[in-house]
Amino acid sequence: MYVLGIESTAHTFGIGIVEDTKVLANERVAFSTEEGGMIPHQVQKHHVKHCDVVLKKALTKAKLKLKDIDVISFSQGPGIGQMLQVGAVMARTLSLKLNKPLIGVNHCIAHQTIGEQLSDATDAVLLYASGANTQIIAYEGGKYRVFGETLDIGVGNFLDQVARNLGLGFPGGPKLAALAEKGKKYYPLPYTVKGMDVSFGGLITHIKRKCQEVKKEDLAFSIQETVFAMLVEVAERALAHTDKKELVLGGGVACNTRLQEMCEIMCEERGATLFLLESQYYIDNGAMIALEGYVEYKAGKTTKIEDSQVLPYERTDDVTVTWKE
Ligand code: ATP
Ligand code: FE2
Repeated sequence: MYVLGIESTAHTFGIGIVEDTKVLANERVAFSTEEGGMIPHQVQKHHVKHCDVVLKKALTKAKLKLKDIDVISFSQGPGIGQMLQVGAVMARTLSLKLNKPLIGVNHCIAHQTIGEQLSDATDAVLLYASGANTQIIAYEGGKYRVFGETLDIGVGNFLDQVARNLGLGFPGGPKLAALAEKGKKYYPLPYTVKGMDVSFGGLITHIKRKCQEVKKEDLAFSIQETVFAMLVEVAERALAHTDKKELVLGGGVACNTRLQEMCEIMCEERGATLFLLESQYYIDNGAMIALEGYVEYKAGKTTKIEDSQVLPYERTDDVTVTWKE
């Protein structure tokens, strides 16, 4: 079965095509700007401008024609309304034109599913660390539960802000990571874990006020060591609480090799297994939406056109999961 998945929750417009659980194509374009950040109507325009090219590229890559597609899947939420609309309209149009089933999926759950579908994990805790989101998610009692999350901004946006303050440019995460590799000295920084939740706001203020004298490389190193330790601590607590033995990662920050290494150490120490993927599957992408569509469709779920409105505020635990034991 061929499933086409459309991702458009934020700055990325992506289309993935899977044959059952095998990824045949994963094409994307990402909105970028030198100044002003992400202005929704501009990003929407960007997605509209590129959507047909991404579709053609994905079909070419998969060596398929549109008529070969069996199911159309799209990110229904959460995300920014204007961007979500582009993917939703395209999905409805394709579904009607091809007379093929439509299926709206939750973006955060798709990050979890791709972690399991492309690895040997079957019931993993997900550390979802992206720009806008930072959550620890695991399946329990019919839903994907959020065991912990950021109380303010996402870890990626935190890294981007710090990088901007250091004059490193955007996106800041990879730039800060490169700088951190040259750092040697650890400066203690505020470490904010509250139960299973984390917070980064105070850390930004602290860095702005107190770290003017610290060498940039050492500061970058110390920042990574501190915030990644916070993420690893809450991920470990979720593993302990749920008694699960598998960890998967998701979101752009999951591309960070130091974070991966720290997760690896924690898993080894507690007899759990970390399953890693290629970076193209951590950042927002269409393949994860196609895979989620495949898994849900196989379990009998479809979305009627009249129920396909976008859900910008949908939470992971709003979704009743009928496709997982
Ligand atoms: P979502 O809508 O799921 O929240 P997003 O739009 O924020 O996603 P992603 O593509 O998942 O975007 O992640 C982008 C973030 O990942 C940016 O903040 C970027 O700085 C960060 N990032 C990317 N690569 C790295 C890296 N190697 N180390 C640290 N951070 C990284
Ligand atoms: Fe995401």
